[in-house]
Amino acid sequence: MSVGKPLPHDSAHLHVTGQARYIDDIPTPSGTLHLAFGLSEVAHGDITSMDLEAVRDAEGVVAVYSADDFDHVPDCSPTPLEDEPLLSTGTVHFLGQPVFLVVATSHLAARKAARLGKITYDEKPAIFSYEDAMAANARFEDGPRIYTKGDPAKAINAAPHVTQGQIDMGGQEHFYLEGQVALVTPLEGGDMLVNSSTQHPTEIQHKVAHALHIPMHAVRVETRRMGGGFGGKESQGNWLAISCAIAARDTGQPCKMRYDRDDDMMVTGKRHDFRISYTVGYDNTGKIAGIAFVQMTRCGWSIDLSIPVADRAMLHADNAYLFEHARIESHRLRTNTQSATAYRGFGGPQGVLGVERVMDHIAADLNLDPAEVRRANYYSDMGDEPQDGQTTPYGMPVTDGIMHALSTKLLTDADYKSRRDAITTWNKANPILKKGIGISPIKFGISFTLTHLNQAGALVHVYQDGSIQLNHGGTEMGQGLFQKIAQVAASEFGVNMDAIKITATDTAKVPNTSATAASSGADLNGMAVKAACSTIRERMSEFLKEYYAVDTVIFGDDIVTVGDHSLSFSDAAKLAYENRISLSSTGFYKTPDITWDRIKGDGRPFYYFAYGMAVTEVVLDTLTGENRILRTDILHDAGASLNPILDVGQIEGGYVQGAGWLTTEELVWDASGRLRTHAPSTYKIPTASDAPDVFNVSLWDAPNPEKTIYRSKAVGEPPFNLGISALMALSDAVSFCGPNYPALNAPATPEELLNAISRARA
Ligand code: MTE
Ligand code: MOS
Repeated sequence: MSVGKPLPHDSAHLHVTGQARYIDDIPTPSGTLHLAFGLSEVAHGDITSMDLEAVRDAEGVVAVYSADDFDHVPDCSPTPLEDEPLLSTGTVHFLGQPVFLVVATSHLAARKAARLGKITYDEKPAIFSYEDAMAANARFEDGPRIYTKGDPAKAINAAPHVTQGQIDMGGQEHFYLEGQVALVTPLEGGDMLVNSSTQHPTEIQHKVAHALHIPMHAVRVETRRMGGGFGGKESQGNWLAISCAIAARDTGQPCKMRYDRDDDMMVTGKRHDFRISYTVGYDNTGKIAGIAFVQMTRCGWSIDLSIPVADRAMLHADNAYLFEHARIESHRLRTNTQSATAYRGFGGPQGVLGVERVMDHIAADLNLDPAEVRRANYYSDMGDEPQDGQTTPYGMPVTDGIMHALSTKLLTDADYKSRRDAITTWNKANPILKKGIGISPIKFGISFTLTHLNQAGALVHVYQDGSIQLNHGGTEMGQGLFQKIAQVAASEFGVNMDAIKITATDTAKVPNTSATAASSGADLNGMAVKAACSTIRERMSEFLKEYYAVDTVIFGDDIVTVGDHSLSFSDAAKLAYENRISLSSTGFYKTPDITWDRIKGDGRPFYYFAYGMAVTEVVLDTLTGENRILRTDILHDAGASLNPILDVGQIEGGYVQGAGWLTTEELVWDASGRLRTHAPSTYKIPTASDAPDVFNVSLWDAPNPEKTIYRSKAVGEPPFNLGISALMALSDAVSFCGPNYPALNAPATPEELLNAISRARA
């Protein structure tokens, strides 16, 4: 069976030889036009004049659009609020907002012309900080959202110890290697073919149809692969596809738009930054009696996906810990910056970092091992007392816990205790360099919290030569989804992998899909494909039983065994075809048993949880703030893995990306609201050389108790959270510099580390 095998990514050979085709590699017909935006130069203000003469006169320019060219300026928002006009309708809300659109004969001509607009503004006060947004009550939704369990105020007051604190955590640029890009080809009768680098082809189809006032059936969106998405291509591709579609309609020419890296960083949304403050009451063992969080997040100028992102941060405020008394208050603030958007973990990591900080802070105040404080608070494991009745702060029973067993195994395998002691000894002998060790567990909820999104479709064809074409609604962004699902199809038909053709995601093949997001790609599409395959297999099976007058038909190893006969799968397909058996089927799946009331904060938003844990050791130069990850050990739960090497790849990549978020990746806006870190020269993502020197990753490898595809678990986002252990390890290193708790913020750049060292010493 193909499922469970460590097969390489289906496109690995194409990736490494440069043959994998991305949108910008698609050969375009002569006459293809290229687009670029003219961007706002102020963070907030009304446009008082716009002189685009020089833009129109520039070499190669074919057309220029501003809001005045539309009766209704097309909307780019992924929400029904429609608060993202394609081009500013008079007010600009952030520095970098598209104000006009240039269509030209080349990419460079469009970009050059886009610099020539002369726009004047009546500038208004802009809101950037948490404080200013709170003071102005600049927010999405009427007020804060609050989830409560028990009586936290009373429980905190009655506890033997109370600790208070706050952590700031920065946003994060997606830095997908392939930037945002779309190519639109006008077809006959006003139809449009859209090639888009998107995690959400149906959304692109919907928004293009809406912008052109045509039905969705007139728009076909195709996505073969993305060069990374990481959440940044759930909604942010709408702008480019809509722009190209409008220009393609008006000019009759194919139109392409590809953001230059600097524009991409100036225009598109990033991970939400958060400020989380906490008050926690606990006993001498560190067991928490009551806890209260206030989460503030800067959502930027438009709502985008900020509400479900902020919800997920609340839903992960408990992480792996059972709280009898908890209060989580969440403020979704409106600021004059890029509109923060989905990013791997979708708010979850921010909520998790809040409570992980609390665990370390309690351990520091009690002078206990942070591993012991965590253990005192974990949800009970499956089958252990008092597991019955344990619920999250939002009322969901936790019945699949494995944190105790998983953490015991990892801490033993990683030799945690003796390394921790060795670090203490080492640090006594070393005045300048300090080592630190940190841990972080994860319990990550799997499902879209907007329940209706938990559905998927597939379309599978078996051709008369026995070759199989596989279509489903999921998109490939490097995570290996297509290979995993091909393994499912091969297993269902009992054929070799080379019988399966992986195709581009295509809205004409599978309609009404959800974004490939929430780590649910394999869970949802795998099940839909399995359903389609099993329909065809059953038809073949019924036919063969009748044809050979036997009772059993078995598919396996490319052979169909029919009673005493055996024939190749391709001969079976040919025979079925000749006997007029339909060899094509759709498949559909919806996640069972989930219900969620997001206003009350009550229900079962997640089908199950994925678990994991990391131990990270670092060394820090306390004079310069420079640091390195020396060793990382991870034990991660991917259920019964569909493909262990792809899963390990997701875990390694997720961890490094998470560590990057919390260490080197710093977004800096200046006082005017201009993003100063808009290129790799000033924004430092981790490279191969920043990966841990020693990197041990293992899979927990026990089946999912829920009936997921082959009992596997989603793996895309959960391990991102494990990067938190790197921040905890740095904080541990800093704590050897002085008696005070360093209260290290993220990202822990050298500057922040030096500040934390002063706080520790003061
Ligand atoms: N891995 C790679 N290589 N590239 C990506 O863009 N996106 C992540 C994760 N892993 C991403 C990735 C995000 S944000 C999600 S939600 C999941 O993959 C989506 O894919 P899945 O549902 O198939 O896991
Ligand atoms: Mo992932 S942030 O759900 O695209």
